Amino acid sequence: MISVKNLSKKFENNHVLKGVSLDIGENEIFVVLGGSGSGKSVLIKHIMGLMRPDSGEIFVDGVDITRCSSKEMLPIRKKFGMLFQYSALFDSMSVKDNIAFPLREHTSTKEKDITRIVAEKLSLVGLSGIEGMFPADLSGGMRKRVALARAIVLEPSVIVYDEPTSGLDPLMARTVDDLIVETQNKLKITSIIISHDIPSAFRIADRIAIIYKGEIVAYGKPDDIKKSKHEYVVDFLKTGLHL
Ligand SMILES: Nc1ncnc2c1ncn2[C@@H]1O[C@H](COP(=O)(O)OP(=O)(O)O)[C@@H](O)[C@H]1O
Ligand SMILES: [Mg+2]
Repeated sequence: MISVKNLSKKFENNHVLKGVSLDIGENEIFVVLGGSGSGKSVLIKHIMGLMRPDSGEIFVDGVDITRCSSKEMLPIRKKFGMLFQYSALFDSMSVKDNIAFPLREHTSTKEKDITRIVAEKLSLVGLSGIEGMFPADLSGGMRKRVALARAIVLEPSVIVYDEPTSGLDPLMARTVDDLIVETQNKLKITSIIISHDIPSAFRIADRIAIIYKGEIVAYGKPDDIKKSKHEYVVDFLKTGLHL
């Protein structure tokens, strides 16, 4: 579904992506794993068409998005739902208004339908009936679920999670892992997770790409990754020291 070919990106003299290539299949849980500053977010911004590469190609459903105009990018962007690191809900808006936000911003859905769609998405994330609550009234786990309901409200074919378990205790991290797998199973969509959480990656991923200093140093099924002899990968998996 997504194919990245030889992607390179520099910011001044900071060479962040150095010829990254990878493929992400439909209905796959794909984890991009790497230490902080390794280029994970920059890679994902390219895949979502939010950044332009210096060279390389990115195919989304067969279209090379590096050649698209901003107008041609609009339908491509709609394929992606994004869950940001800290949920990023609007504190001044109710749960309903938070989830409805993309619908109101990007569609002309009628209010009656908005009410129905919001209820549907809340039910899907296991939080029926909390439309009137505000982010401040919710636990961290509930906020994640509401943010997820918002991320799927335009029915994307890909959900991108940026560091979804970052800053969470191990128990909460597991809950978020379960939520990702559950959502993937229910919606049959592609999930891309950007992460530096090694146990979480191995728990949920169909396939993993490990990125180090802007290069993919390991790529494949979790069992294949474990067999890697690349010095950095061995070290990273054993100690997590580069995190
Ligand atoms: N918009 C930008 N302009 C300049 N440098 C950037 C920009 N975005 C990211 N970088 C740099 O690219 C490198 C990788 O960043 P990032 O992809 O955010 O890392 P991470 O793997 O932690 O997500 C960092 O050195 C960062 O400073
Ligand atoms: Mg990042």
